[in-house]
Amino acid sequence: MKPKIYITRKLPDPIVTRLAEVCEIKMWEKEEEPVPREILEKEIQDVEGLYCLLTERIDKPLLNMGTKLKIVSNMAVGYNNIDVAAATEKGIMVTNTPGVLTETTADLTFALLMATSRRLVEASHYLREGKWKTWSPMQLTGQDIYGATLGIFGLGRIGEALAKRAKGFDMKVYYHNRSRKVEVEEVLGIKYVDKEKLLRESDFICVLMPFTPETKNYIGAAELSLMKQSAVLVNTARGGIVDEEALYDALKNGDIWGAGIDVFEEEPVKTNHPLLSLPNVVALPHIGSASVNTRLKMALLAAENLLQGLQGETPKHLVN
Ligand code: GLV
Ligand code: GLV
Repeated sequence: MKPKIYITRKLPDPIVTRLAEVCEIKMWEKEEEPVPREILEKEIQDVEGLYCLLTERIDKPLLNMGTKLKIVSNMAVGYNNIDVAAATEKGIMVTNTPGVLTETTADLTFALLMATSRRLVEASHYLREGKWKTWSPMQLTGQDIYGATLGIFGLGRIGEALAKRAKGFDMKVYYHNRSRKVEVEEVLGIKYVDKEKLLRESDFICVLMPFTPETKNYIGAAELSLMKQSAVLVNTARGGIVDEEALYDALKNGDIWGAGIDVFEEEPVKTNHPLLSLPNVVALPHIGSASVNTRLKMALLAAENLLQGLQGETPKHLVN
């Protein structure tokens, strides 16, 4: 008998076909709407495998309902949406999709850094709204990227890939991480510094660490107050790492110069969110890994993790 699985969002056909070779599938058939909690609560009772997205909160009460559940496969590298400790306690495997999205997410991070510092979105609106009357010396002037100092919080795969890009712009690169990576420092020509030095001396600060109880509000009012007034903050990791109220105040008061934000504490972010009222914010709807190829690779990797777990192997990207 094929093991039963539930998939929480409509997936591309080739992925569904691959899963159907081995499993009996039920899938939430909508693309632009997450599965309602009541439905997930009902479906989880019947399956050995759950294929989910970062939009689903896989908490302890839900895991308790999954009495047959063996594995939860998250189609994301981040897995703060899952109570991993509760899963581990119940002997449920949890997997994620690292590696395949590294370069794509580093690309987007650098794009957001550039878009924010050179005011691309604002400038485009300016033109379309008919405000462009003449060329003038200080019109829409931004911050230089070439040769500036980049500070990276969280030197994982994506952080390293970002550092490589920055080197192409002759940037000086600082990083701060839980553990120092001496070999990477040598290969990439980057420097480990303490949190305060990174905050004080960087022109650009990118947040690329996982969201955990320890990194909640890692960038708050105190940190923002240390940053240069010309500094640009970029967050493509998770919303809760940066305190949004403190960020709003810092941007509003001119304590920092701009922010590029791909992730929010609450997603989808409401259009009346205070940060969206500021011209010096470039905001995106969590698209860090959103290239056609990378999203297909992530979807397939999540499928492979799930199949490995259900077929009695240790999944390649087990996180617990
Ligand atoms: C996306 O944010 C991911 O964690 O893969
Ligand atoms: C994620 O893949 C990271 O390690 O940065």
